[in-house]
Amino acid sequence: MDTSFLLPFSLMLLITLSIFFTLTSSATLTTDQDALLAFKNAITVDTNGLLRNSWLTNTSICDWNGVSCGIKHHRVTALNLSNFALHGKLTRHLGNLTFLQTLDVSSNNFIGALPAELSKLRRLKQVNATSNNLSGEIPRGILTNMSLLEDIDLMYNKLSGELPSDICNNTPKLKRLFLGVNQIYGNIPRNIYKCSKMEELGLSRNMFNGNIPTQVGNLSMLTFLALSYNGLQGNTPSSIFNVSRLEFIYLRGNKLYGRIPTNLDSLLNLQGLYLSGNNLTGEIPKGIGHLSCLTHLDLAVNSLTGMIWLLL
Ligand SMILES: *[C@@H]1O[C@H](CO)[C@@H](O)[C@H](O)[C@H]1NC(C)=O
Ligand SMILES: *[C@@H]1O[C@H](CO)[C@@H](O)[C@H](O)[C@H]1NC(C)=O
Ligand SMILES: *[C@@H]1O[C@H](CO)[C@@H](O)[C@H](O)[C@H]1NC(C)=O
Ligand SMILES: *[C@@H]1O[C@H](CO)[C@@H](O)[C@H](O)[C@H]1NC(C)=O
Ligand SMILES: *[C@@H]1O[C@H](CO)[C@@H](O)[C@H](O)[C@H]1NC(C)=O
Ligand SMILES: *[C@@H]1O[C@H](CO)[C@@H](O)[C@H](O)[C@H]1NC(C)=O
Ligand SMILES: *[C@@H]1O[C@H](CO)[C@@H](O)[C@H](O)[C@H]1NC(C)=O
Ligand SMILES: *[C@@H]1O[C@H](CO)[C@@H](O)[C@H](O)[C@H]1NC(C)=O
Ligand SMILES: *[C@@H]1O[C@H](CO)[C@@H](O)[C@H](O)[C@H]1NC(C)=O
Repeated sequence: MDTSFLLPFSLMLLITLSIFFTLTSSATLTTDQDALLAFKNAITVDTNGLLRNSWLTNTSICDWNGVSCGIKHHRVTALNLSNFALHGKLTRHLGNLTFLQTLDVSSNNFIGALPAELSKLRRLKQVNATSNNLSGEIPRGILTNMSLLEDIDLMYNKLSGELPSDICNNTPKLKRLFLGVNQIYGNIPRNIYKCSKMEELGLSRNMFNGNIPTQVGNLSMLTFLALSYNGLQGNTPSSIFNVSRLEFIYLRGNKLYGRIPTNLDSLLNLQGLYLSGNNLTGEIPKGIGHLSCLTHLDLAVNSLTGMIWLLL
C-alpha cells in the first residue's frame, strides 16, 4: 500500500494541532492578563510603582511583581500584593483568574467591597485582605460554598452586614476564619459547626449579639477562639469547655452572665482563659487551678467569688 500521502497529511495535522494549542493557551493567558490589567486599572495610587513599573504587556504576566504562575500551564496561581502600598478597589475581574489558589492583598488601602466574583474561584485556598479599608458585606459564596478554601483573613477592615445562616455549608476545609476588628453584626450562626476542620476562629471586636451558639463546642479541632468585645449575651456554653484542643479562649468585654462552666477536665491544652469585663457570677470553678498549661487567666470586672486553688 502506498502510504506516502500520509506523511504530509500527518505533518499538516501536527501543524494544525500545534496552532490550535498555541491559540487556546494564549487565549487563556490573555484572560489572566486582561484580569490583571483590569486590576491594575482599578488602582488609584501605586505609591512605590510596584505595578506601574512591572505590570507591562511586553513581559509575561508570570514575571510581574506579586504574580506566580503554574509551571506547566502558565496560569496565575497566586497573587501576593501584601504591603505594596496600593490604594483603590478590588476589581470584579479577579473572578476570571480561574487557577488562583492564593490571594493576598493584605496591608494596603483597598476600599469598597470584596467582589462576589471571588467565589467563582473553585481552586482558591487562601484569601488574605487584612488591614485595608474594605466595606460592605462579605460575599456570601465565600463563607458558604468554596470547597478548597482553608484560610480567610479579613481582619482590620470596615466590613459590615451579618454572617449568612448557611455559613460552612460547603467549606469543608476551612481552618482559619479571622474577621476581627470589623463592624459585622447579628448572631454567630449555629451552622458554624459544619466547618468541622476549623482550628482558629477570630471574631473579636465586631458587633455580634445573641448567645454564643453551643455548636461552637462541636468544633473539635479548635485551638483558638476569640469572641471578645462584641455584644454577646447569655451563659457561656459549657460545650466549649469540652473542646480539648483549645489553647486560647477570649470572651472579654461581652455581656455574658451566669456561672463559669465547671467542666474543665478536658482543657488539658488551655494556655489562656480571658473572661474579663462580663457579668459572670458565682464561684470561680475549683478546677481552674488544676489546668497545668494555663499561664494567662483574666477574670477581672465580673462578680465572681471564691478562690483559685492551685495544685502545686
Ligand atoms: C517594556 O516597555 C517598557 C516601557 O513601555 C520599557 O521601559 C521596557 O524596557 C520594555 N521591556 C522589555 C523587556 O522590552
Ligand atoms: C506574601 O508575601 C509576604 C511578603 O513577602 C509574605 O510574608 C507572605 O507570607 C506572603 N503571603 C502568602 C499567602 O504566601
Ligand atoms: C471577566 O470578568 C468580568 C467581570 O466579572 C466580565 O464582565 C468579563 O466578561 C470577564 N472577561 C473574560 C475575558 O472572561
Ligand atoms: C495575613 O497577612 C498578614 C500580614 O499582612 C499576616 O500577619 C497574617 O498572618 C496573614 N493571615 C493568615 C491567615 O495567614
Ligand atoms: C483607612 O482609611 C483611613 C481614613 O480614610 C486612613 O486613615 C487609614 O490609614 C486607612 N487604613 C489603611 C489600612 O489604609
Ligand atoms: C456552589 O458552587 C458551585 C460551583 O461554582 C455551584 O455550581 C453551585 O451552584 C453552588 N451552590 C450553591 C448552593 O450556591
Ligand atoms: C454537637 O455536640 C453535642 C454535644 O457533644 C452532640 O450531642 C451533638 O450531636 C453534636 N452535633 C453534631 C452535629 O455533631
Ligand atoms: C461534655 O463532655 C462530657 C464528658 O464527655 C459529657 O458528659 C457532656 O455531655 C459534654 N457536654 C456538652 C455540653 O457537650
Ligand atoms: C449584671 O447583672 C445584673 C443582675 O442581673 C444587672 O443588674 C446589671 O445591669 C448587669 N450589668 C451589666 C454590665 O450587664
